[in-house]
Amino acid sequence: MTNWIPLGDVSEIKPGSRKLYTLQGTEIAVFHVPNPDQSGSFYAIENSCPHQGASLIEGEGCGTEVNCPLHDWTFDVASGECLDFPEFPLTRFELKQEADLLLINGDAFAEAEPHTLFLVRYSVMGWVDQFSAELAAEYSHRDRVILQTSRGEEVGEILSPLESPEKKITPAGTILRELTPLDQEQLPGQGNIITQVFGDCQQLIQERGMPTEIIDCEQLFDQQTVVLYYLGSRLPALEILAQELNARYPWRIVFHPVDEAPASSGCSSGGCGCDQK
Ligand code: FES
Repeated sequence: MTNWIPLGDVSEIKPGSRKLYTLQGTEIAVFHVPNPDQSGSFYAIENSCPHQGASLIEGEGCGTEVNCPLHDWTFDVASGECLDFPEFPLTRFELKQEADLLLINGDAFAEAEPHTLFLVRYSVMGWVDQFSAELAAEYSHRDRVILQTSRGEEVGEILSPLESPEKKITPAGTILRELTPLDQEQLPGQGNIITQVFGDCQQLIQERGMPTEIIDCEQLFDQQTVVLYYLGSRLPALEILAQELNARYPWRIVFHPVDEAPASSGCSSGGCGCDQK
């Protein structure tokens, strides 16, 4: 049975305005979108831009659309869609109204397993982010670990444990285990495969006159994914190129902008959308 949690009186949110609530550490932005024929509709989203976490309640917009105040991406709070990059949807919550009371579906706020957080460096780009681990897990500075990220299994390096944050955060992934001797043996060599994919990609980009520069390349620990890091805009031509490379190689080929760490959930959404094979 759905656990409906009262949020507040509908009169607290005038038509055309928004209100911020916090439930179990999660900030929820509720939008009251006016409708000429009816009293209006209420929509609830997590108040964290799926790109880099900006506060969406501060964004401008019209109707069901809101623009992120940080990089101006446009989202539809009714559908959850990101109109600029569909691979970055909003997290939405179900609402219902009973008389004047607004209620939210509390099933999404079920208590997560208690965990502990570590600061971890990963990828050839040297990104640093927060990862969760089992509550009893103990890692030391510089321990090498296997991570589960939105891109697959990768190797990381522990920097430090973290205090529990006051505001709920979504970790970039999970620490699966410390690197074992067997894992060590299975580490991808980053040799021939990388040289081959990197070279082929650079050649195709040059032949097509694309304004994209491939900066680096790595094969993830799972040996299924090869990531090409690029400088430049997210062009549709890059998606076509990714499809071609995916058909040419036995690995999943993903393009990823150098200045953007992967999103913490969903598919490998930091990429150009070409990473779903
Ligand atoms: S943080 Fe929202 S678009 Fe970048």
